[in-house]
Amino acid sequence: MADLVVARCVEHITTLPQQSLYGVDDAESACLRMREPAPAEGTALPVLLDALFTEYIPQSFNTPSPGYLAYIPGGGVFPAALADFIADTTNRYTGIWQAAPALVQLEANALEWLREWMGMPVGTSGVFTTGGSMATFNAVLCAREKYLGLDIRPGVLYTSDQAHHCVIKSAKLAGIMPDRVRSIACDAQFHLPIDALRAAIAADRADGLTPFMVVSNAGTTNTGAVDPLDAIADVCRDENLWHHVDGAYGAFFQLCADTRAVLRGIERADSLTLDPHKGMFLPYGTGALLVRDGAALRAAHEATADYLPDVPSAAEFYDPSQHGPDLSRGFPGLRMWLTIKVFGADAFRSAITEKRALALDAARRVAALPHVVMDAPVELSLFPFHITWPGASRADEDAATRALMTDVSKRGRVMISGAVAGGRYVGRVCVLSFRTHAPQIDALVEDLAAAIDDIVGRRN
Ligand SMILES: Cc1ncc(COP(=O)(O)O)c(C=O)c1O
Repeated sequence: MADLVVARCVEHITTLPQQSLYGVDDAESACLRMREPAPAEGTALPVLLDALFTEYIPQSFNTPSPGYLAYIPGGGVFPAALADFIADTTNRYTGIWQAAPALVQLEANALEWLREWMGMPVGTSGVFTTGGSMATFNAVLCAREKYLGLDIRPGVLYTSDQAHHCVIKSAKLAGIMPDRVRSIACDAQFHLPIDALRAAIAADRADGLTPFMVVSNAGTTNTGAVDPLDAIADVCRDENLWHHVDGAYGAFFQLCADTRAVLRGIERADSLTLDPHKGMFLPYGTGALLVRDGAALRAAHEATADYLPDVPSAAEFYDPSQHGPDLSRGFPGLRMWLTIKVFGADAFRSAITEKRALALDAARRVAALPHVVMDAPVELSLFPFHITWPGASRADEDAATRALMTDVSKRGRVMISGAVAGGRYVGRVCVLSFRTHAPQIDALVEDLAAAIDDIVGRRN
């Protein structure tokens, strides 16, 4: 069975560039046709593999493709899949330290490597999660426990109107209701304005509320903007607030010398969301949270039970169940550990540096195309833009830019997506897959040029 699966997987990844990027046309009727009751009897594996690889998998966005420049690309490095295979086959219990101490130590090592890469101090602790959303939820929980205790209703959380929607979801999960979340309007470059932040905090204090947390962005999903992290850290220090940085997209640009300046202050965060399934190219399902005061993370999750062994001394050994809500779970640490050991840290440094260079090149060439207006500079590896022409209204520009995203993606060489930001529809290009190289940027620029010609030509 393993040989059959590996053969299909290898064929799949070696033909990725030739496969369709956007296979979800007619998804509704296809899904309706698929509904079936639980089978009473088994089916031969080759039959199931055929259905998966020829029918179901192609009906999707081809997210690991080199041409995938939409949303926030991931990639999915293959050794991580092998790590999952080993983890699931050996099926050891890594929820608590005593059940698999050496394996848990591998996970602790991987978290420690993340801490070092981010420049956070010794004493920082962390936990692997399924993604950035759950990491952010855990961060709100830590901040709430530390600053609000039992009295959570007056607590107010501040973020920008460009924050990922997981912030408001996380707040709600942690008992901070939407009326206690301030989504502060960004400046023209999509950054959280410091004056407005200070003013909002002061207004809430004057109303008898309890500001307790700021969530800033190290790379927004819409436009790639990095908030002034150092200045926000100063506000949090002055106001005695928890500073969480959402680095789901951008944190791994700490590994690139060129982007460290824009991220300055990230290392001062009280907590930091990382998404190895984005900036470290791992398969989906790997997020991470780092918390500067490791004791605060443990305080939020510490628990014992009569049937469990004693919790190991935190100073000596890492116990995952004392750092997050899960007890039983998979073994996320192995996919991180094996991948980093197989490639070495330098491979990640050079890959992320290459993505940055490709994005800069793409932005320069896209900006030079007729009718293109850039809506923000490339701060990391993502840039927003729209198209215009003499006499175009905002509605015309929005419709044409939206059509451009579909038109370019339908040409089949690259896939891009858009977003609404700053009151208009913007196209976005995000370069983050480890498989994306110069040929995909050439294809992007050529296909954008041809599609803009068509779309603007039709409207004039
Ligand atoms: C900036 C940002 N924050 C948070 C998230 C949520 O992360 P996840 O999808 O891993 O839960 C995303 C996901 O795209 C993101 O781009």
